[in-house]
Amino acid sequence: MSPYAHIIGWGMAVPEKVLTNADLAKRVDTDDAWIQSRTGIRERRIANSEQTTASLATDAALQALEIARLNPDKLDLIIVATSSPEHIFPATACLVQDRLGASNAGAFDLLAACSGFIFALNMATQAIRSGSLKNALVIGAETLSRFVDWSDRNTCVLFGDGAGAFVLQASEERGGVIASVMRSDGSGGDLLCVPAGGSFAPASLETVAMGKHFIKMNGREVFRFATRVIAQATVETVEKAGLKLDDIQLFIPHQANQRIVEAALRSMNVPIERCVLNIDRYGNTSTASIPIAACEAARDGRLKAGDKLVLVGFGAGLTWGAALAIWSGAPQQPGARPALPLPLRLRLYARLRSLLRRILRRIDAWIWGRYV
Ligand code: COA
Repeated sequence: MSPYAHIIGWGMAVPEKVLTNADLAKRVDTDDAWIQSRTGIRERRIANSEQTTASLATDAALQALEIARLNPDKLDLIIVATSSPEHIFPATACLVQDRLGASNAGAFDLLAACSGFIFALNMATQAIRSGSLKNALVIGAETLSRFVDWSDRNTCVLFGDGAGAFVLQASEERGGVIASVMRSDGSGGDLLCVPAGGSFAPASLETVAMGKHFIKMNGREVFRFATRVIAQATVETVEKAGLKLDDIQLFIPHQANQRIVEAALRSMNVPIERCVLNIDRYGNTSTASIPIAACEAARDGRLKAGDKLVLVGFGAGLTWGAALAIWSGAPQQPGARPALPLPLRLRLYARLRSLLRRILRRIDAWIWGRYV
């Protein structure tokens, strides 16, 4: 029988800096009442100059590993879902792997915009279910504030920075992620995009001058698409698991707009009380929004071991998808908990390991350079 992929650790990281609607009203022609009534957002977090997608991802990952009581060298796979990677390459996941000292993990990025966390969760789950690996780290991390045009009121009020992470572990016991769906429709690719900076339109003086490295969005079209696919993906995933909507204790949708979520819930006859909403405090953190909401639900006691939850996302691409999971809770270890290096010690160890590997690579190059 194929093993199940249990969620045994979760973590989140958000920058300390808060940007309120009133702060935004000083930059563009908008106001708190408009933003709150049209989106549900009151404030969002913005990374400082030291914080990057990889640093937020690493912070969230360390928390998740701490809850899972898992040493990073036990990880077989790290997937970072992000729409704001540090570079085109190397993958942000590799930077995270190095900072964690996860010496046995393959690491790669996954780009499915705001649906990225659902897609990454599904990929890691399938890898575990195939029996090919035991422990996986799935992260959604963003510094979208660096791709936002702060003079465009249509988009700058929506986005925020942050990261969230899950640790998945193989187990013979039924549980964890038991059903999921992933869908895409590239015909809507132009509705939400960053037009330049890729191979289609490499960075040039012209692309910069035209603001083509910022997020461009057709808000109304994305709104219509989102309300439709949240319900579609949720119902399909619940049916795939052989369950009914009434069997689900908690719905955790991508936090893009409170009105989108409310409309989708109405169409499914699901009361808002069974849904996690924290968009008022973070805005749309893209791939990070679902794991951040899950972390807060677990922290607030809204998610208990055995609960069934649906995570559902949508975003640029267009992409959408959902996953149904049975919440496993933190691992119960009889007796003394195994000693796990504290995050600070882990960070120091990882930095030392990284430095040693760089030195060894230099020595290696010097030795081999003499023979070729
Ligand atoms: N402050 C004040 N007015 C604003 C504004 C702002 N920040 N942004 C837009 N407006 C204006 C528009 O210019 C428009 O004015 P007009 O009628 O004179 O042209 C008016 O408000 C209504 O615009 P509209 O686009 O119809 O508003 P809306 O109710 O659809 O809300 C969004 C706009 C962007 C909030 C909404 O469409 C949305 O959330 N779409 C989905 C976006 C999303 O989720 N993206 C991420 C997906 S992962």
